[in-house]
Amino acid sequence: VEEIPVKVAVRIRPLLCKEVLHNHQVCVRVISNSQQIITGRDRVFTFDFVFGKNSTQDEVYNTCVKPLVLSLIEGYNATVFAYGQTGSGKTYTIGGGYIASVVEGQKGIIPRAIQEIFQSISEHPSIDFNVKVSYIEVYKEDLRDLLELETSMKDLHIREDEKGNTGKVARLISCLH
Ligand SMILES: Nc1ncnc2c1ncn2[C@@H]1O[C@H](COP(=O)(O)OP(=O)(O)OP(=O)(O)O)[C@@H](O)[C@H]1O
Ligand SMILES: [Mg+2]
Repeated sequence: VEEIPVKVAVRIRPLLCKEVLHNHQVCVRVISNSQQIITGRDRVFTFDFVFGKNSTQDEVYNTCVKPLVLSLIEGYNATVFAYGQTGSGKTYTIGGGYIASVVEGQKGIIPRAIQEIFQSISEHPSIDFNVKVSYIEVYKEDLRDLLELETSMKDLHIREDEKGNTGKVARLISCLH
């Protein structure tokens, strides 16, 4: 059987204090001992991984991302991206907020993956590694280099080809901010 190279995980975040205060109701539940969720009354969806509202950053990282980081060291390509409506928990999960100020257990995917990559590099002293990092935000039509805040937004462009395609990378990034 050929393995499908894309896996989809869903993570349900808990209600925020302000949502509880406004009496918002939970509308999505995990079916226990399954990789399925129910939204509303009876709509069932199946995923490769399901993380409920009490899931930890550690669980999400170890289950979904760590195996990819380890195969990266062996030369495979890997991509992880977070997709979801505003406020659903993408930034929290990838750990892309004010990383340095976050307590250890709450760190998201990015700091954990970086730690693992450099750990593996130090365990393979005979191999030459080349690590490049970029950190870009797409907000509406503007691109911002988050590692080079001095660069004016005008200097960065989403490129289009003659057919008006923006290319996979730009489209992918636009899902991530
Ligand atoms: N698993 C979680 N546990 C506790 N709080 C969470 C969790 N996921 C998200 N939150 C909180 O929910 C709020 C919204 O999350 P977040 O900012 O990550 O959403 P987002 O998907 O990045 O939204 P946007 O698209 O607007 O950037 C934040 O206050 C965040 O701290
Ligand atoms: Mg966000």
